[in-house]
Amino acid sequence: MSNRNINEIAVLSSPDVELSRTFPTGFLWGAATASYQIEGAVNEDGRGVSIWDTFAATPGKILNGENGDVTIDHYHRMLADLDILSEIGLAAYRFSLAWPRILPNGSGTVNEKGLDFYDRMVDALLAKGIRPFATLYHWDLPQALQDAGGWTNRETSYRFADYAEVVARRLGDRVQDWMTLNEPWCAAYLGYGNGVHAPGIKDRQAAVNAAHHLLLGHGLAVARIRESTPATSRVGIVLNFTPAYPADDRPETIRDTAFADMFSNRWFLEPVTRGNYPAGFFEAMQLTPPLIAEGDMEIISTPIDFMGVNNYTRNVVAGSPTPVLADEVRTVNVPGAIYTEMDWEVNPQSLTDLLVRLYAEYGVQNLYVTENGSAFADQWDGGAHIHDAQRVEYLRDYLAAVSDALKRGAPLRGYFVWSLMDNYEWERGYSKRFGVVYVDYPTQRRIIKDSGRWYQSFLAEYSQEPVQ
Ligand code: FCB
Repeated sequence: MSNRNINEIAVLSSPDVELSRTFPTGFLWGAATASYQIEGAVNEDGRGVSIWDTFAATPGKILNGENGDVTIDHYHRMLADLDILSEIGLAAYRFSLAWPRILPNGSGTVNEKGLDFYDRMVDALLAKGIRPFATLYHWDLPQALQDAGGWTNRETSYRFADYAEVVARRLGDRVQDWMTLNEPWCAAYLGYGNGVHAPGIKDRQAAVNAAHHLLLGHGLAVARIRESTPATSRVGIVLNFTPAYPADDRPETIRDTAFADMFSNRWFLEPVTRGNYPAGFFEAMQLTPPLIAEGDMEIISTPIDFMGVNNYTRNVVAGSPTPVLADEVRTVNVPGAIYTEMDWEVNPQSLTDLLVRLYAEYGVQNLYVTENGSAFADQWDGGAHIHDAQRVEYLRDYLAAVSDALKRGAPLRGYFVWSLMDNYEWERGYSKRFGVVYVDYPTQRRIIKDSGRWYQSFLAEYSQEPVQ
């Protein structure tokens, strides 16, 4: 307890203490962040332009026109931010690397200063005994590659594999845990389909083509990372899942729920785990399948060492009387349920079911929850505390759901809360706070919220020797 101010640690109730004891020894506890959301310093040390810089500078795309130019200034505060991980008592940290820092034009000349930043981060983490989980792509594509078509261009898959190798060669002697892509569903559909994310293209056919190239890039990168790192390294992908539940038992509801599941979950899951797009998917989207070259699906389904699961909520589907496209099913809110500031339902049970399904139905062997968390409208009164009772409750209930999945046999190895600190929430700018650490944006002051203190005391309990 030496480094901890005992007065600041939330006092766990005995059910929380019991919950902490249900997790096996060696279960990995962490927090997650992403480069564009926290780093800022967009013009420093040779960083190139990313599609998010361009998108955020385009009028009308982001709430209040906000951008990631400064965000929470992590690029300059990295070491102090990592101290917070130690203070909370976390064993692992999931971060992403900004491709345009490392290859400012997407390919070609390597910017050593960009690599140096992550090199220092990894050394600092290891010095603290914190295991780095490195994500290579969390949506900040170099603009130069977008200018050549971005993910709709098959060449981008190969450039991604080259970039992965550059990073793996530099950090592979110290980083063991690699994730290729974060949520390629979002990169493809929000980026190219409905245009809500960078690069802001609204073309559903482009989205399914981009999806294929993202998946191909993933598969190519898995091999390149393995070739460039020691045999002990482990490579996975992070997918986002929104389980779909029927609101009633009408036949059209059952049909549309299956569509929602195919669109939100199976579109990326099945190529990776089975080497096929879900049967009927392109028909359900009324789109042409992407151009699939010979061998692509084998590359995409290269066995991975683990799967990262991002989950925040579920969808409840109410069938439409006339047939709809798979990406247009109607979802409804559940009377009496709790919704976060994102208007996402709090439904921990659906995470349990999802984890069990990934194991039982898809045979996924090593699972990590790589993101899970909640946005609530935190209020700071200028003092030393942020009372975010709803986030404490969300965290506790979702950890109980994770524990239930373990009891039901899901091979779950760790959990990362989204996010360590409040940050830039994409098209919603700074309006949504997900951190277990509050950031006062004008002063950049960091304050551990009650949820962070709760996590801290939960982890302190978890680390105790089992009571005989
Ligand atoms: C996920 C993203 C992450 C964050 C959370 C709230 O989809 O991976 O960057 O924005 O949602």
